[in-house]
Amino acid sequence: MSALGFQFGTTAEGAVINPSKEQDSVVVSTCFLEGDRPLCRGTGLAAALRDTLSPVSVVREMEPLARRTTLRVGGAATVWLEPAHEADLAAALVAARLHRQPVFLLGRGSNLVVRDGGIPGLVVCLSPPTFSALTVEGDRLRCGAGARLKDVANIARRAGLAGFEFLDGIPGSVGGGLRMNAGAMGGWMFEFVEWVRLMEPDGQILTLPASEIAAEYRSCPRLRTAVALAAVLRGKPGDPDAIKASMDRNNARRWESQPSQPSAGCIFKNPGPELSAGRLLDELGLKGLKRGQAMVSDVHANFIVNLGGASAGDVLGLIEEVSDRVRCARGIELQTEVEIVGRD
Ligand code: EPU
Repeated sequence: MSALGFQFGTTAEGAVINPSKEQDSVVVSTCFLEGDRPLCRGTGLAAALRDTLSPVSVVREMEPLARRTTLRVGGAATVWLEPAHEADLAAALVAARLHRQPVFLLGRGSNLVVRDGGIPGLVVCLSPPTFSALTVEGDRLRCGAGARLKDVANIARRAGLAGFEFLDGIPGSVGGGLRMNAGAMGGWMFEFVEWVRLMEPDGQILTLPASEIAAEYRSCPRLRTAVALAAVLRGKPGDPDAIKASMDRNNARRWESQPSQPSAGCIFKNPGPELSAGRLLDELGLKGLKRGQAMVSDVHANFIVNLGGASAGDVLGLIEEVSDRVRCARGIELQTEVEIVGRD
């Protein structure tokens, strides 16, 4: 364990978790149980969670998700959980497995298209304060998975820690940022990660150094099956005024190059380091292309914006049409960067 430690692993009663067990060896993280098929719509699971978790954990059924995503489309979560602490999270993961329900971790919903039929099974959101703490220790920041990336950038600025300026404009959470290895303005999350504390689907907690967690362009495969709980990020000492100036420059650039309407950020991965998907779609004249109330942004072509009342079907239809046009015109197979989840 690092000097900084992850001492906040002692999580209270019902010790499903074994926080002391560290091994050398995860939106918003997804932990669907491979090979398992959901048995029912989750009412049994909601009842089981209400019976077993502490009363401070929030459990709801058929929770609408559109308002919890930045694109503002999609159906409901069959069971919605805001766990009060790690022990409840562990118990919920175990219960979902017993009920053969998939589990999906929702961060701030900024990189997500939820299909119109919603997300079956359990949707977990680590927004409660126990998961959202941010503390500065020297040149390190300890960040709960539920904390906002914007808050990370600002707390770092106030502490005179440079490097995190790019996070200011990403409307996501630390958990989602780790899961997606979020990046902007030349920076990306795992550049700064020292340690990640994560929970396996069986409730076990591990603390892993970044060197043991593979991170790729917009992806951290380890966090497809495990839930990121927290991370330690390391910055470089810097002058708060200079950091503020850099954040202001990034913001100005973002305001002028990206749309302000509801969106999920960039839809497609850039096909190559020298080839921007936005530029490609722009060159093909796709700006302004519409399907229902979803439109390829006329500001940045790699954004699809919700003009008001779009359905996920509109957005997905547009993604398909854009992909087809690029394939026909240039022979390039675009890959989506946004996570597309749920059922039609
Ligand atoms: N461009 C166009 N037309 C467009 C869009 C872009 O000609 O419609 C040109 C720009 O003028 C620029 C080049 O394409 O010369 C690259 O554009 P930009 O600087 O916007 O970068 P990007 O590669 O399109 C990436 C990230 C963004 C991040 C920006 C800024 C990806 C897929 N996108 O965009 O991330 O904000 O750099 O750093 O890697 C996201 O992840 O959701 C996202 C928006």
